[in-house]
Amino acid sequence: MSQTEELPTATPHEIHARFQDPTHESSTSAEWWRRSVIYQIYPRSFRDTTSNGIGDLPGITAELHHVADLGVDAVWLSPFFASPQKDAGYDVSDYRAVDPIFGNLQDFDDLITEANRLEVKILVDLVPNHCSDEHALFRQALVSPKGSAAREFFIFRDGRGEDGQLPPNNWLSHFGGSAWTRITEPDGTKGQYYLHLFDSSQPDFNWDNPAVGDEFESVLRFWLDRGAGGFRVDVAHALVKAPGLPDWNGRADGADSPGYPFADAPMFGQSAVHDVYRRWRAVCEEYDGERVLCAEANVHPIEAMADWVRPDEMHQSFNFPFLHTGWDGKALKAIITRSLKAFDAVGAPTTWVLSNHDVPRHATRLGAVAPSPRDGDGLGPDDIQPDLHLGLARARAATLFMLGLPGGAYLYQGEELGLGDNTMLDPEYRQDPSFARTNGERLGRDGCRVPLPWDSSSASLGFSDSEASWLPQPQEWASLTREAQTADPHSTLNFYKEALRLRSAHQLGLGDLNWLEDTNTSSLLGFENSEILVVLNLGTEPVVLPAGEVLLASSSSALDAATSALLNPNSAVWISLHHA
Ligand code: GLC
Repeated sequence: MSQTEELPTATPHEIHARFQDPTHESSTSAEWWRRSVIYQIYPRSFRDTTSNGIGDLPGITAELHHVADLGVDAVWLSPFFASPQKDAGYDVSDYRAVDPIFGNLQDFDDLITEANRLEVKILVDLVPNHCSDEHALFRQALVSPKGSAAREFFIFRDGRGEDGQLPPNNWLSHFGGSAWTRITEPDGTKGQYYLHLFDSSQPDFNWDNPAVGDEFESVLRFWLDRGAGGFRVDVAHALVKAPGLPDWNGRADGADSPGYPFADAPMFGQSAVHDVYRRWRAVCEEYDGERVLCAEANVHPIEAMADWVRPDEMHQSFNFPFLHTGWDGKALKAIITRSLKAFDAVGAPTTWVLSNHDVPRHATRLGAVAPSPRDGDGLGPDDIQPDLHLGLARARAATLFMLGLPGGAYLYQGEELGLGDNTMLDPEYRQDPSFARTNGERLGRDGCRVPLPWDSSSASLGFSDSEASWLPQPQEWASLTREAQTADPHSTLNFYKEALRLRSAHQLGLGDLNWLEDTNTSSLLGFENSEILVVLNLGTEPVVLPAGEVLLASSSSALDAATSALLNPNSAVWISLHHA
């Protein structure tokens, strides 16, 4: 792109390349996970090769070269294990088997072979907090007597009240309703309750029982032996519960509420959980190739989350506070600074993420023209619809800004195509358990899980050979297929490729961070990493950029066409200061 020309002088938004003291120093360590880009594949929505409308492992193997071509280091696969699919596979009935809807173990081995050829690591999603009520261990627990070794794998308790008619405590399920379900004992009488922090089909394991730890070490080794590059660890903050399971009047999801800080929640962040990860880290280190553990530890504040990535625990943890910060420069600067300091303090990389299978995609969130009607939950046909144009512009800008940050980054399948949610899903399509458990009060997460558009070869946009697609795709996706975007030099897909190429070429993942002095407002943010200036314009007026070579802008309309020196609203840019 072009060298900047003469700069207009008098405008209120002129910025200069002057920096504050470094917030983060560059890293000299070469370990891949300190600077990685990891791409999340949601198997049921990636690519279907059996014409049943559900994606599968052979589909991933067949198309993995597209992902490798983006320039990512690893792929994290959401669960593909044997499962009744009550929570889209996060309800595992056999941790050592592939669910037939996704294929079989040979298909997994073939995927590893292809991934090795493409030099992309495959991370497996491990779900250790709970399994499915169809898991053999839980079935055994149900037919075994109270107090038996089989029941000790789970958290069974007697009910309160005279006849045990009240649950053992007041804990709530993340998906709505009580976190306890009462069973019928083998003799037909009403019996004990079991704990499930999620759906009633997802009984929590009892991590106080050493046999649970032994079982999971064996599961870990099973996938490591097969060539997994490591694990994304589901609900990594919840495994161990406080002794006595005391009542809790705070929020079920652990978010702080008045008088109930996350730190006091009896079902999250108990110190003994760290012993679990120390053991797993030691297991990973027995294997070659720097196998990794990444925590889904929804822990507040970010300083506490850093405990999950101390040197002998996990390697990475998802930065949800960053994801949830939204379109506000001041707030973004604050959380980025805090994150870098918190993770630097334990010698771990900070990670960044904008989308995943549990939240509305960032192209949808950032295009919102009204506040989220249900506290961050997905949108439906009766809600005010997002502005797709604004959402895409901001999503590309947010991504370029994120990829300029030092540390690791996570991408969610389809964001490289600029996809938003399907916000027009009718109730009959909704499968997320939170929809049924709240009688439709919460719409759930189906909107961000819609099958990908590949090309125009079928009615499901090439997702399947047939028209089948387990969730319908939005109409506007017809022009957003991977095939169409490959051919368009200005497409979001080619923009992602270029951003990832430059990020790697300039080693931004291992770089430093110095905030630009003039930017400490809600509408403008800028920093320098490895002599590249990253500027994000969140406001409504153009910004005058300092001199330097424009390496990449978030869209063709990001920069003023005449001068290249003005950054337009809802845009971001990378400028090389090397020769400036
Ligand atoms: C994690 C997963 C989510 C799942 C939940 C229960 O948060 O990301 O999809 O529903 O755990 O396993």
